[in-house]
Amino acid sequence: MRARRSNRGQALVAGIFWVAGIVIFFTPFLRPQQAPDPEGNDPGRAVSEIDIPFEEDVGYFEEDFDEPLGEAIAAASEEWFGLESDKLRECGLFEIERIEAGRRAYDLYCAGCHGSTGDGAGPAARHLGPRPRNFRKGVFKFTSTPSGVPPQRRDLFQTITRGLAGSSMPEFRLLSEERRWDIVEYVRYIAIRGFFEQTMLDWAWEEEEIPDPEEVAEVVLGRWSPDNVKSVYPPIAEIPRTAESVARGKELFQSASGANCAACHGQYGRGDGPTANDYNDDWGYPLRPRNLAAGVFRAGSEPADLYRSIATGINGTPMPSYAGSIEPEDIWSLVHFIQSLSEE
Ligand code: HEC
Ligand code: HEC
Repeated sequence: MRARRSNRGQALVAGIFWVAGIVIFFTPFLRPQQAPDPEGNDPGRAVSEIDIPFEEDVGYFEEDFDEPLGEAIAAASEEWFGLESDKLRECGLFEIERIEAGRRAYDLYCAGCHGSTGDGAGPAARHLGPRPRNFRKGVFKFTSTPSGVPPQRRDLFQTITRGLAGSSMPEFRLLSEERRWDIVEYVRYIAIRGFFEQTMLDWAWEEEEIPDPEEVAEVVLGRWSPDNVKSVYPPIAEIPRTAESVARGKELFQSASGANCAACHGQYGRGDGPTANDYNDDWGYPLRPRNLAAGVFRAGSEPADLYRSIATGINGTPMPSYAGSIEPEDIWSLVHFIQSLSEE
């Protein structure tokens, strides 16, 4: 009992330092005189000057190609995604007029963590766990869309507005809604463009020749097309939360023949299951299953948010999708059990 209390005390003190740290860190970002210049006169990169951050990877096997690979990728990227490019306009995926304003706000508020090219390697990044997202892989964790599918604009808007509880990703409620939508568009832009460049590189590596940019663009743009990017909703309304639904959820959660969430999350969801130390995320960093008993959920803590996290899983992490393997009613039971964990 005593040990538990002092742990709590320590956690509280650590929490206070953490919050103070964040406030001190962000004060300069939030000062109004540093707001982006609406005339666009601030010095800085033009959007089309995004460098290819994996130049080193290109270097390793550049010699295998007739043409310089890095230059070929940069040229293809400019052809498809340069702001003056007709192809960019014709692909219909972007609100192009927002991109430049989004870039300026991004450089100001986001680049310190997410990197000026969006590669997740800003100056503050190495001090943070979890690490800031590398947008250029085109993979997002907290989406309303099916497993493996990119986010909707409003998923990104929500992340930027609310931040990600339990990580250093701050909330940006103080920015105007218009500015936040500009930033959403720019994040989509660097994510899609970065994914295009990465895919060019991956295919070149696999096929040992420089791929046809048109084929790569078709795959990349198809992935983000509005037909593909649709939200998932629970197929049945929430069942009433009762002692039985919580017990049913508990059984599924804990038993190896049920959903076996406990293998990762532990019997009582504390993030201490037998396999908890075995995982990395897709960005290459170690990642532990979440402590669900803390009641802090990055994808939202409404019942429908929890439903969706279980049904679709979390992209880029070992958290699997259960949409095909657990009945909707049972997913609701799991939601009720998870809610009960943080209420004790
Ligand atoms: C203090 C560092 C920091 C700053 C500043 C910051 N972020 Fe983040 N951001 C993070 C971290 C850390 C994560 C990863 C959280 C996780 O994996 O759970 C993240 C994740 C994200 C995600 C990914 C969500 C997903 O579904 O995978 C988006 C989008 C995002 N940030 C956008 C932004 C934007 C836009 C800005 C600027 C307006 C910004 N961030 C500023 C640290 C930061
Ligand atoms: C293979 C390991 C694994 C299994 C099995 C697993 N999870 Fe997870 N789960 C994770 C990891 C890792 C995370 C943290 C992802 C992240 O970084 O945000 C997570 C996160 C979560 C979250 C937090 C989402 C948020 O918004 O923050 C919930 C809720 C969750 N899991 C529920 C479940 C339930 C319910 C089951 C069983 C039906 C389950 N998990 C099975 C690994 C697992």
